[in-house]
Amino acid sequence: MNKISIVGAGRVGEATAHLLAVREHAREVVLIDISEGAASGTALDIQETAPILGFDTKLTGSDDPSLMAGSEVVVITAGVPRKPGMSRSDVLETNLKVIDGIVGNVVKHAPDAIIIMVTNPVDVLTYHAWKSSGWDRSRVIGQAGVLDSMRMASFVSMETGFSIKDINAMVLGGHGDTMVPLPRFTTINGIPVRQFIDEEPLQQLIQRTRDGGAEILALKQNSSAYDAPGAAVAEMISAMSMNRRRILPCVAILDGEYGQSDIAMGVPVVLGQSGMESVVELDLDREEMGAFSQSAEMVLADLQKI
Ligand code: LAC
Repeated sequence: MNKISIVGAGRVGEATAHLLAVREHAREVVLIDISEGAASGTALDIQETAPILGFDTKLTGSDDPSLMAGSEVVVITAGVPRKPGMSRSDVLETNLKVIDGIVGNVVKHAPDAIIIMVTNPVDVLTYHAWKSSGWDRSRVIGQAGVLDSMRMASFVSMETGFSIKDINAMVLGGHGDTMVPLPRFTTINGIPVRQFIDEEPLQQLIQRTRDGGAEILALKQNSSAYDAPGAAVAEMISAMSMNRRRILPCVAILDGEYGQSDIAMGVPVVLGQSGMESVVELDLDREEMGAFSQSAEMVLADLQKI
């Protein structure tokens, strides 16, 4: 890619920018923040790792949203993170206001971009960005499922001792307490995970996955997770940048898939250079479908607040 912009030079923005640079996913990465100093200082700090890490990506930082012009992808990470004890929904009101202005700027300055929403509550804000942009749903997606699946895969690796390289996990639904980890679609080199993990430890790691964000927040106290979220965004961009057409769980606007419409939530999608090519429908059993519908109700409850 030529250019990727990241709006929000907080910790998630920084982690994302650094990985995009190190992996040379674009010639240019622009960090935009209402704090000009935070954006340009972070960009410069990352740029100065290049002599050791050996990347040619150019980084700039600014408070000027017009610098996002020409971006193929705009990642939105701006907003406030939750504090320990809060749910992601508790920051909806504040972050909605932040997002509104940003989406307006993306539509104005980078009308051909693909938006990746990261700010929480990500399902609702992805929906809101889609609605207010007026864009096709293929170009407005959110990051959640890649992160949640990374967490589940990590826990499977810890439990079994098998290499993370062979583990594929799948987590759907809303990015909240009702997310839907799917052990039936979680495998170790193609072998269903239940062959290696008994039901009780499996249920424990499923719950740990649901609580994955809160676990980090409770440990760090003054910060949400940012390294794994940044890696998740870089993975989505990697799928697009080479038109790899990877199947990754992302927050997508649903149009009848999984029995849901006019809502955004996590489902497997085909990701390529034009964004979300299509939603992949899994053959969920009754229990899985029930959990997905319950998760949809939680997202809808938040959507009704906006
Ligand atoms: C998490 C927050 C960032 O899951 O949503 O870590």
